[in-house]
Amino acid sequence: MDITKLTEGALGRIDPRLATGAYSVLKRLPFVRRLVEREFDSMLGDIGDSVRPYSGKTETYRRLPVEGRSREELLDLMGELQAQEADRWRDGYVSGAVYHGDARHIEFLNRVYAINSQANPLHADLWPSTLKYEAEVISMTAQMLGAGEAVNDDGAPAEVCGSVSSGGTESILLAMKAYRDRARAQRRVRHPEMVAPVTAHAAFDKAAEYFNIKMVKVPIGASYKADVAEARKAINRNTVVVVGSAPCFPHGIIDPIADLSELARARGVGFHTDACLGGFVLPWAERLGYPVPWFDFRLPGVTSISADTHKYGYAAKGTSVVLYRDPALRRFQYYTTTDWPGGLYFSPTFAGSRPGALSAACWAALVSIGEAGYLDATHKILETAASIKQGLREIPEIEILGEPLWVIAFASEEVDIYRVMDHMTERGWSLNGLHKPSCVHLCVTLRHTQAGVAERFVSDLKEAVAHVKSQPKAEGGMAPVYGLAAQIPVRTVVGELLERYIDLMYEIDPE
Ligand SMILES: Cc1ncc(COP(=O)(O)O)c(C=O)c1O
Repeated sequence: MDITKLTEGALGRIDPRLATGAYSVLKRLPFVRRLVEREFDSMLGDIGDSVRPYSGKTETYRRLPVEGRSREELLDLMGELQAQEADRWRDGYVSGAVYHGDARHIEFLNRVYAINSQANPLHADLWPSTLKYEAEVISMTAQMLGAGEAVNDDGAPAEVCGSVSSGGTESILLAMKAYRDRARAQRRVRHPEMVAPVTAHAAFDKAAEYFNIKMVKVPIGASYKADVAEARKAINRNTVVVVGSAPCFPHGIIDPIADLSELARARGVGFHTDACLGGFVLPWAERLGYPVPWFDFRLPGVTSISADTHKYGYAAKGTSVVLYRDPALRRFQYYTTTDWPGGLYFSPTFAGSRPGALSAACWAALVSIGEAGYLDATHKILETAASIKQGLREIPEIEILGEPLWVIAFASEEVDIYRVMDHMTERGWSLNGLHKPSCVHLCVTLRHTQAGVAERFVSDLKEAVAHVKSQPKAEGGMAPVYGLAAQIPVRTVVGELLERYIDLMYEIDPE
């Protein structure tokens, strides 16, 4: 059986919602379940090898070794694996992922981590240094994002505040929980809703699912920006927050944050700017004279912002900042419990114990780079992105989506863009495949500002397009996977396939 046949056949001809319902009933039948599982196995059959390239090549620890291995042996092994993996990102073949990557910067952050490796801000009395670092990271990020000029409706300066979290997703989850709980407490909203553009990061869908918030999606217009008129229609009494991206992950486009946040303000609801990608780029781009519309606390309707220090803040992986326009809103993010036998317990974010060393490394990154460093990095990234965009415009089969600054999505009406991506993968590139519409993006980082990288990208892309054009049919790669995922009308089937993929990631070789 072929999943597409099941879901495209009888199920594909009925309303997708009914089809999803029918599938959820059908899959309870043991023989259907077996067929579906077999189909998933065959679809994922070849992928296991790419997820586990070390299988059979390094020792597999299924249980604890009886005697511990020597530290030197382990350091050697891990050094080897790391070295094998570093070539691709270090040489600038990867979209996003490693945003700085300079050896001396990494070495510095590693030393900071080593000094602070035992720190845990849950025990504030033991590591007050971590609290200092976190409070200053929040303050530096807030000042960068307009806190100093933020004025409330009553004319008083806004008291912008925030938290350090583990990454963009956690920052977004925290803010969405805060809005849900505030609306419940202050407006008795029992069926909370969030209004977000279709291009908003998947973390918002995750928040909606985790916190029982109904997600109301707003379409994007021809410029790939959220449609403000549709957003206006989507806001109702249950809306707890409206969302916009600066810029969005898929196409790197900045939503009309001024208009969207004004809509939210007029209706008395919160507005979150997701500046996970742009928070540490756009303020400097604005200073450099690039056309950057306001997206931060200078806009009176913006009540929270997520900005990732572990992306263009150039900190080590594992930190982000979530900011709020006022401390009362931040309090809805906190957790406290007073009756636990373990004592009075409180934590500002989702985790209990947290890696204080990452907050220390984040502080050290910000302070060591400083305004001049961020301006310089942003200048290099935007110049490189401009030359890549120019190169793409010279490939007639390729079209850039919208007018992005440095996250450049491109599509084609003439060639299968996923096959182009596959061909780029063969040449060592790791690009992001996107869908709805089918396209691929390159998120330009400091790695791409190295000499020759932008030129190599454009010339490889030219050759990949020419190759696909000359051989329209080919087997393997990601193209069929994207093609299949797009064809399957019952989205739960695609979701189940992804769950199987996650299962696969945790597998180890059988004994
Ligand atoms: C716009 C945007 N928001 C949120 C996130 C989520 O960040 P993280 O992967 O750190 O959780 C990303 C990640 O790329 C992003 O681009």
